[in-house]
Amino acid sequence: MKLTILGGGGFRVPLVYGALLGDHAEGRVSRVTLYDTDHDRLAAVARVLDEQARGVPDAPVVLATTDLDEALKGADFVFSAIRVGGLAGRAADERVALDAGVLGQETVGAGGIAYGLRTVPVAIDLARRIARLAPDAWVINFTNPAGMVTEAMSRHLGNRVVGICDTPVGLGRRIARVLGADPDRAWIDYAGLNHLGWVQGLYVNGRDELPRLLADDTLLGSFEEGKLFGTDLIRSLGAVPNEYLHYYYFNREAVRAYQQAELTRGAFLREQQQGFYARMREPGTPALATWDRTRAEREATYMSENREVAGAGDRAASDLESGGYEQVALALMRAVARNERTSLILNVRNGNTLSVLDADAVVEVPCLVDANGAHPVAVSPLPYHAAGLVTSVKAVERAVLDAAESGSRSAAVRAFALHPLVDSVHVARELVDAYTLVHPQLAYLERP
Ligand code: G6P
Ligand code: MN
Repeated sequence: MKLTILGGGGFRVPLVYGALLGDHAEGRVSRVTLYDTDHDRLAAVARVLDEQARGVPDAPVVLATTDLDEALKGADFVFSAIRVGGLAGRAADERVALDAGVLGQETVGAGGIAYGLRTVPVAIDLARRIARLAPDAWVINFTNPAGMVTEAMSRHLGNRVVGICDTPVGLGRRIARVLGADPDRAWIDYAGLNHLGWVQGLYVNGRDELPRLLADDTLLGSFEEGKLFGTDLIRSLGAVPNEYLHYYYFNREAVRAYQQAELTRGAFLREQQQGFYARMREPGTPALATWDRTRAEREATYMSENREVAGAGDRAASDLESGGYEQVALALMRAVARNERTSLILNVRNGNTLSVLDADAVVEVPCLVDANGAHPVAVSPLPYHAAGLVTSVKAVERAVLDAAESGSRSAAVRAFALHPLVDSVHVARELVDAYTLVHPQLAYLERP
């Protein structure tokens, strides 16, 4: 099997390669092609992969290229993990929003809309190109905002594109562990959009164990989401929210904390990664050790402002391990390529899974995956509070897709104005003006 990674010079590529190194079965990925627009970044990541492969006799061969067509031809799987505008773009997304008094985060609220407006046109070009050059390839989208980007690509690739996020998996695992259940045998009743979902049940041997968690204050307060949201809120919702809902349920506090932080997340990562890629240009640098140290620092500081607002303390050691994204991606590839049937929470077209959304809407739900792809399975219906947020945010995503396809500025304003975390149409207009000033990639928004 041949895998192509778009954004192959990206920092998290070694996680994927590490997962591939553990797969020795027949039909495994034997060749990985890294595609990136930046030659230096490709060289840095290739050095890390080279060290990872030492002593692994059947390690996948690694090729690197800046030629997209060459990268796509012959691919069985394509991972899309691009970052339009780089981390400087992410930092600008956050700063503009925070200066306007609203949330700046790469996937939620104004920052996520700005990032979507920059990314969707590029993702659509890629999808068209893949449909032409590798029509039989399966596409796994890691690019944030993952739900919106996957939906944009699905308009050209149909069900051959599947979006991935590790937060539902991480949440399900944490709950299972706290309940003393085997995470791999638990069925998680999870539904929503990417970074906007709730666990409404966790079944072990056909029995819902979530009520036992909700009834026990100690258990409920013992893991990340319990600490972030507080046990009272979770119990009163009767469901455990994805950690990204902290930006909604504690929006004022999160905005204030991010405004007061010395660096936004994007600015912190921009500096951290500049340092990493600079060090990788020096010949003597131990590649894998340097990468791993940088990764550990990134993990330890993930959502640190939210945790501070909630008084949640440091992340649990088990949450600092990798194993999220790359294991989901590997399981998905194995299921599709070798018909190793499994169930995974993925971003796929809704069909008739969530009745409040149309069939083409990309949702994040449990799926059965086999050689024919990912098929969403029945979940509990969303309660009104969740359905309200999900339909509002889907309307925002559709406005972004509309703006990206038509170049309409008023569609872009509509996207910001309809978002539940942007509280004024006036602010929405200001945001479009400010973002178009700082992001050259938004020059396409030239129609009224
Ligand atoms: C989680 C989210 C991803 C995000 C990642 C890294 O895994 O699900 O969507 O890309 O964290 O976040 P960071 O703030 O470190 O870039
Ligand atoms: Mn994610």
